[in-house]
Formats: sequence, C-alpha cells, structure tokens
Amino acid sequence: MPNIVEYQVQGHVGVITLNNPPVNALSVGKGLLQGILDALKEGDHDPNVRVFLLIGGGRNFSGGADITEFGKPPFPGMATLRDVLTYMDTVTKPMVAAIAGPTMGGGLELAMGTHYRCAITGAQIGLPEVKLGILPGAAGTQRLPRLIGVEKAVEMITTGEPVSTERAHELGIVDEIVTGDLRAAAIAYANKISKEGRPVRRASALTAKVEGDADAFFAAARERITREFRGYPAPLECLACVEAAVKKPFPEGIKFERERFEHLVRTTESQSLRHAFFAERAANKIKDVPEDTPTREIKSAAVIGAGTMGGGIAMNFVNVGIPVKVLEASQERLDKGFDIIRRNYAATVAKGRLTQEAMDKRMGLLQGVQSYDDLADADIIIEAVFEEMDVKKEVFRKLDAVAKKGAILATNTSTLDIDQIAAVTSRPGDVIGLHFFSPANVMKLLEIVRGAKTAHDVIATSMKLSRTIKKVGVLVGVCDGFVGNRMVHAYFREAGFLLEEGATPQQVDKAMEAFGFAMGPFRVSDLAGLDIGWAIRKRQAATRDPSQRYSKIGDLICERGRFGQKTGAGYYKYEAGNRKPIPDPEIEALIVQASKDAGIERREISDEEIVARCMYQLVNVGAQLLDEGIAQRASDIDIVYLYGYGFPRFRGGPMFYADTVGLPKVLETMREYHARLGEFWKPAALLEKLATEGGRFN
Ligand code: 3HC
Ligand code: NAI
Repeated sequence: MPNIVEYQVQGHVGVITLNNPPVNALSVGKGLLQGILDALKEGDHDPNVRVFLLIGGGRNFSGGADITEFGKPPFPGMATLRDVLTYMDTVTKPMVAAIAGPTMGGGLELAMGTHYRCAITGAQIGLPEVKLGILPGAAGTQRLPRLIGVEKAVEMITTGEPVSTERAHELGIVDEIVTGDLRAAAIAYANKISKEGRPVRRASALTAKVEGDADAFFAAARERITREFRGYPAPLECLACVEAAVKKPFPEGIKFERERFEHLVRTTESQSLRHAFFAERAANKIKDVPEDTPTREIKSAAVIGAGTMGGGIAMNFVNVGIPVKVLEASQERLDKGFDIIRRNYAATVAKGRLTQEAMDKRMGLLQGVQSYDDLADADIIIEAVFEEMDVKKEVFRKLDAVAKKGAILATNTSTLDIDQIAAVTSRPGDVIGLHFFSPANVMKLLEIVRGAKTAHDVIATSMKLSRTIKKVGVLVGVCDGFVGNRMVHAYFREAGFLLEEGATPQQVDKAMEAFGFAMGPFRVSDLAGLDIGWAIRKRQAATRDPSQRYSKIGDLICERGRFGQKTGAGYYKYEAGNRKPIPDPEIEALIVQASKDAGIERREISDEEIVARCMYQLVNVGAQLLDEGIAQRASDIDIVYLYGYGFPRFRGGPMFYADTVGLPKVLETMREYHARLGEFWKPAALLEKLATEGGRFN
C-alpha cells in the first residue's frame, strides 16, 4: 500500500500525490491533510524544489472533504483543509494542481488554493456541497467568484452541478488542458511554469466582481433561490457567502463562510441530505450477495406488453443502446404502443433535449414482435401485461418454453406473488421482479423483488442493470405491494380517515405540501386516476374484515363518475385544459355526509396532526417491513420513498425522518393514536424495541 500522501522530488518539482482510494476524500483523521501540509513545508525549505505539483494517485484528484468525518469529534493535532489552505497562501513557490476525474468540493477548493491548474479531459469539476445541505467551507465561496466572476460562481455553487474540463477551461478554473499520461504531462507543465519564471498567482488576491449593480443582482438571486429551493436552507447561505466575497476582504469573507458552514452542517436538512447520499450507496450492498458475484451479460432485452408500463420500460433500454423486442397480442396494439413512444421522444426533441438523429437511433433499436419464438435470443425478458395472476402465469409458461438458457425472466407486477409466477417455470432461479414506477422512462426507482428461489447472480445482474439504465435499484422481498406500495397504501388510507374526522382534501394536501411533498395525497390521487384503486377495492370487498375501519369517501366519489383529472373532477374540480385543483363544495358536502353516516363527529384537525398521522403510518409499515425482512435496511426504505414517491429529500426519507423526530416521541404518539383510532395504529414490534432501547432505524 502506498502512503496516503507520497512526496517525491522529481527534478525541481515537489510532487505531492494523494492516495486515498476510491475518491481521494480529504481525510483529516487518516492524516491525508497533515501529509500534504508536511510535504509543502518540506519542499518550501528545500532549495532544490522550485515548483509544487499536487496530483491524485488514482483515477481522480479529489472528491472533496471526507463526509464520513462530519459531525464526528475533531482530530486533535491533525491538520484540516483550512490549515492547509492557510499555509498555501504563504507559499512563495508556484503550486500546480493536476485535475482529473471527479474534482469536487474540498478537492476543487484545494486546487483553487494552488496557483495554476492543469486538467485532463473527462474531469467533473464542481462544488456540490449544496446537495449535501452545506456550502463550500474551505474558501470555495470566496475563491471561485474571484476566479470566474460572481454570476457564474453563484450558478455553480447554488446548483452544485459540475462542469467539464473544457467548460472549466473556458470559465478560467483550469489554465491548461493536458493530454496523454496525466502525471507526465502535469510534471512537464509544472516545469514550464517554473522555467518561464511565472509568478505565484493567488486567487485570494483577486477581486470578485459583479457585472452591473451588485445589490440588484443579489436581491434578484435571493428572490429566485427562495422560490426554487423551498425547504432547503443551504442555497441562500451559499449566496450570502458569495455576497461576502464581493463586499468583504478575503479574511473576513472566510470567517463569514466558516460560520455559515458550521451552522449548516448541524441542520437537520444537511443531516438528511448526507443520509440520502450514503443511503443511495448502501442500497447497492446486499447482505448475502457479495460484490464480486458474477453477473450475466445483458446485451439484448424483450418486453411483453406495450401498454403504459411496457412502453416506458422498453425506452429505458434503447436509451442506453440495448436493443429491445416488444411483444404484443396484436399489430394494432403494437402500433399504438410504438406511437406513444414515438410521441414521447418527439416531445423531447421539440424541447431541444434530444437530437432527431438520437431519436431515430433509439426507435431503430425497438422491434415489435407477435411470436414468442422471436424472444429466444433475449438476455432479459420483462413482462408488463395485465395485473392478473392467470395471465402472468400463462406468459411465464410460454417464456419458459422459448427463452434461452440463462435468460433472466422478470415481471413488473406491482402486487402479485413472484414465487407463484416463478413456480410455473422450470427455472425459478432465473425469475425476479423488476418493479418500475410510472412513468417508467422517467421515475428513477426500480424495486428489485427477489423471490424465494431467485439466484444470486440474477440479483447481482439486476442491481447492475439498474445502474446501466440509470435507475436507483433497491432490493426488496415478496409481500403484497412490496415496500413502496404497501407503505403508500397505509398513507392514503390514513388521509381518507382524516377527511372522515373533519379535514378537507385541500387542508390535508396543504399540510403535506408544507411538509415538503410536491403534491399532497388527494392531488396525487386525482392526477393518477381514482378508478383503478376503486376497481381493486371492489374486488377485495368480499374478503375485507368488516370489523376493520373503512372509509367510503373514495368509493362515493368514484360512484359519481369523478375519476380525477381525466374526468375533470375527483377530490377537486378542474377547469377544461387546466390542472389547477379547485376545492369543490359538492365534495365537502359529500365528506360531511360520509362522516355523519359513519357516526363520526367532525372536529378541527391541526396540520401537525395531519402530518403526524400520514407520516407515522408510513413509518409503522416501514418498521413492519424491516421486522419481516422484506426490506434489508431502513435506509433502503428511505431510498424507495425519495426516488419513487417524491418524498422531500431534505427530510431524508420516512425512516430517517422518524429518527430525527426521535423514536420515543413517535412511539408515544402512535400509542395515543392506537388507543383513540384503533388497530391500524398498533406499533410495530421493531419500533417498540428501538424506541425503548434508545435506538434509531438508521
Ligand atoms: N467522503 C467520503 N466518502 C466518499 C466521498 C466523500 N467526499 N465521496 C465518495 N465517497 C465514497 C462513497 O460513499 C462510496 O463508498 P462505498 O464504496 O463504501 O459505498 C465510494 O466513495 C465511491 O463513491 P461512488 O460510488 O459515489 O463513486 P462514483 O465514482 O460513482 O462517484 C463521486 C464519485 C462523483 C466523487 C461521488 O462519490 C460524489 O459525488 N461524492 C461526493 C462529492 C461531494 O459531495 N464532495 C463534497 C464533499 S463536502 C466538502 O468537500 C466540504 C468542503 O467544502 C469543506
Ligand atoms: P396496460 O393495460 O397499460 O398494459 C398492458 C399491456 O399488456 C396491454 O397493451 C395489453 O395489450 C398487453 N397484454 C395483455 N396481455 C398480454 C399477453 N398475454 N401477451 C402480450 N401482451 C399482453 O397496463 P400497465 O399499466 O402497463 O401495467 C402492466 C403491469 O405493470 C401490471 O402488472 C401492473 O400492475 C404493473 N405496473 C403498473 C404501474 C402503473 O402505474 N400503471 C406501475 C408499476 C407496475
């Protein structure tokens, strides 16, 4: 193992190499920053050294501060990034940074502390701290506007989006684009700087300028950011720091930035966003399927059914160059399905987000077929036919007869038992659930449902496939509704009970939107359509336990032919061609009557109660899913909600939210609801246990 920082003098260049795979996170605790500081000090005193080069030993320069160290006690006696940067501003020999791969956050701040930056093509250069609910806290908000101008710096810092090597060169972050072997090229560049006698060039000595009136610029930016980033405190703080770069001398700007960083890093929003970052990565890890499990090659795919889901699923594959055969029962249905796909792409072309050439290429990778024999060579076949067990079983029998050995046979079912489907085949190990969310070409979540017999390499391949098609895959087990829909069912049910007890749809929606959801439950229902749920409830009516509480409001609305936006009325009414929900006195009267019929006396319900009841239902079912082993870990449930249900990211997901409230408090409230509202509020065993032991879900 090389040292975490290697220092070598090559000719007259003091080369400082960072070796902290996988991303060269700037760790304080592991001594990486101390290593850089020691090397700089050594070179500073070495007359043979005329120029410094900072370079990453692996694929990149540095992905930034080590996020795992946030919120941990400090490491006494160890240099921090700020210590290194403060020292760098005293170094009188030119310093060069060699930028490659992801060069982000503290990584870019370190590079901006040097005097010259060269970069190789393919780097991603940015200050993404805002995405973690913090701000660049090592002078990034002070140096970047000085280097590239205030307007562009505000854009980069408040969005957190990285730029390419070429764009960074245009902006003035990168001075020289180098090619070939980075190390050799960067050493040559450093030698050139030294031979030409180029001076030290500190970004801290430059002036951050706004083109035009600075006050007007910041006022307008503040107004825009407040509107765009509701619920997220960091973007406004980023802006305030850039304003300080314009209005205060560098040392004061740094001080201000530091204060605001220290404040943000402690906020619940930042803790939640950092949780989301690590949760997303943890979801890739499967307890009994090691990372080195071999995967099957997926070079071709097939989809059965060209309906709402089948079409969207097929698009995911052709979008990344994988050819797809789509099977339908008739040419007419194929034409209809392909027409929708074509219109979908054409809309993206019209918006300028896809070229006509790329669209033609994608459409060219789609082939409609009507015979199962045509599917014999597909590496993966995904079924998206009607949600009926007998239909699915028939499809899988046919697939079993024609699919090649080793093909993955997947179902997109949202509720049915995958083990029953697998059992009709001679190869249950090859069968898995790939539960896409609607619209399947847009929604990032992919619930990967393992059956009792699903083979490990089929799971590993599916997880890898989710990344290939740019989805976030989460592994779950078999149960009715899997993770996402089983939880959301309880959420909608509770929202219905709130109506019965005294709330209106608009009050519930407003409370959940203030909590952070883009849309409350009733606006979502009207958007998705009320008829499908109604049909399912009618089918379930015969088996429903009559002693369990049941709100009839949803059914009564459907009985009036109000199926949501598509019929111009649902929980709200809509004007033709307008999606704006209008509260409807007819619905309010219907709800009041329903309460009366159910013998419930209506009362004032606070927004706080609305949020607690909707959220704690999610949490309680989430805890049951953990208890039952359907979800591997609480953070997986959070990822399902962040990517599949528009859960506000600044709250980290339902399970993390419960942790931030505190499980004893959640349990106490749930017990109170249990006593008052009945069986649906029986706290899950895991919740009882963790709350009593002082534990957390995460
Ligand atoms: N600190 C600690 N661990 C990090 C890390 C960081 N900054 N960045 C990545 N990692 C870890 C990941 O958790 C993952 O760990 P795992 O293998 O145990 O799951 C591993 O490194 C590999 O990461 P990815 O799977 O994400 O690798 P990719 O190649 O897909 O992406 C990346 C690389 C673009 C660098 C991406 O990891 C990323 O965006 N990282 C975060 C970048 C960031 O936000 N930097 C700012 C940090 S805050 C800061 O610098 C504060 C400063 O201003 C003071
Ligand atoms: P859909 O009704 O829009 O499409 C189903 C398609 O399958 C139709 O085009 C039909 O012609 C075709 N089909 C039916 N039987 C067939 C057969 N034997 N062989 C070939 N084609 C056949 O339905 P949708 O919404 O696309 O749902 C499909 C599956 O996806 C269902 O299992 C559903 O539960 C699941 N799902 C649906 C979601 C949604 O929001 N619509 C979300 C996630 C999963």
